[in-house]
Amino acid sequence: MTGSIKYLLAENEIPTAWYNLAADLPFRPNPPLHPRTLEPLGPDDLATLFPPSLIEQEMTSRRFVDIPGEVLDVYRLWRPTPLVRARRLERALPTRARIYYKYEGVSPAGSHKPNTAVAQAHYNHRDGTRRLTTETGAGQWGSALALACSFFGLECTVYMVRISYEQKPYRKAFMRVHGADVTPSPSSRTACGRAILEDQPDSPGSLGIAISEAVEDAAGDPRACYSLGSVLNHVLLHQTVIGLETRRQLEMAGERPDAVVGCFGGGSNFAGLAFPLLSLDGTGPQVIAAEPAACPTLTRGVYAYDYGDAAGIAPVAHMFTLGHSFVPPRIHAGGLRYHGAAPLASALLHHGLISARAVGQLDAFAAASLFARTEGILPAPESAHAIQVVVELAREAEREKTEPCIVFGLSGHGHFDMGAYEAYLDGLLEDYQHPREEIERALAQLPQVAGGR
Ligand SMILES: Cc1ncc(COP(=O)(O)O)c(C=O)c1O
Repeated sequence: MTGSIKYLLAENEIPTAWYNLAADLPFRPNPPLHPRTLEPLGPDDLATLFPPSLIEQEMTSRRFVDIPGEVLDVYRLWRPTPLVRARRLERALPTRARIYYKYEGVSPAGSHKPNTAVAQAHYNHRDGTRRLTTETGAGQWGSALALACSFFGLECTVYMVRISYEQKPYRKAFMRVHGADVTPSPSSRTACGRAILEDQPDSPGSLGIAISEAVEDAAGDPRACYSLGSVLNHVLLHQTVIGLETRRQLEMAGERPDAVVGCFGGGSNFAGLAFPLLSLDGTGPQVIAAEPAACPTLTRGVYAYDYGDAAGIAPVAHMFTLGHSFVPPRIHAGGLRYHGAAPLASALLHHGLISARAVGQLDAFAAASLFARTEGILPAPESAHAIQVVVELAREAEREKTEPCIVFGLSGHGHFDMGAYEAYLDGLLEDYQHPREEIERALAQLPQVAGGR
């Protein structure tokens, strides 16, 4: 057979429980800290931002957490998602590696983000929240939460990083169709936003700044909670539905992966795919996070305590970071412009259980274009970073004459990113250099936590 092959599960094979990697870790990740006192956070500290069910999930040590029926009902609209053997890509490279991709772009928002958005909207609705606030970079997360809020009858306020708000007007329209209120960030609606605008009126914004605005908004309204689309333990937990399905699909294909690759912004699609496939005793696949060279959190950042947001009002986490005041260059993979990384993924990297590679924007778009021409799907610019790492692995396998099985996460489609593809095709995209001085300046502002670095 020469064409690409799809491995499909039946509707009743959607996993009924999420997998919590924290239960199996051979070490204990350092706890998150309160942003003012820098003391370990307790459940009460999180209560102004999150509903009780999600606080419980954030701290749970249970290995499996049941997926509620209401969430499964919504998942069924697009799950299970396909695992595809990319034979046409293999032939075009050419490589003797066997390449599989798990495609999350079939969700109504076009990415993996609804896997957690639906769960978070459900628990918030059940616990009595009326409005959710959030930030969005590429617009994918905002779209997912807007959609999920409309399913569960919640209001939704989205702070959208200004550069993406300008580059992706149709993402804004998508969110508004689903009833969300969308504001470019930094905005004059919050004290954090006003302070940044005063200092830098044409700030492109960043995920860190938009998080500050959404957190401030939720903390000031007793009807509202805050919702984060990545980084936190409960978000990674919800995304494991991806890897749990993939595990079964690989069994159908008769494969055991040698390498697992995911793009990395805050770490949720990467963790969702990789955690259920990871082996903590070192006998499993090589697991690689693909991040942008312009925002090299995992490859050039430090493992330290830092704030999750730019203004220093969100919890302080032990993670790989470029410093909370780092504003990444204006690359088109807006969802990868985050200064920090999920604490669970950071701990795995620190302990050598996963690795990371940085990818330039031009290489990412070249790999995405090759993928579109061979497999027919136009990838999200974020996912393109994973494809470039797969291309590198396939070329390495050719040089070493090995035949690995490589699985990667195609986290979303790029149908709202046509401006970026057009700029690439017109030769207008640049490869941003890692701005070392900027990173050094931001790292000098890390909170001073004893033993945290
Ligand atoms: C399609 C897509 N992939 C990946 C990401 C990166 O986020 P995460 O690292 O949480 O998966 C985003 C973020 O917006 C995204 O939209």
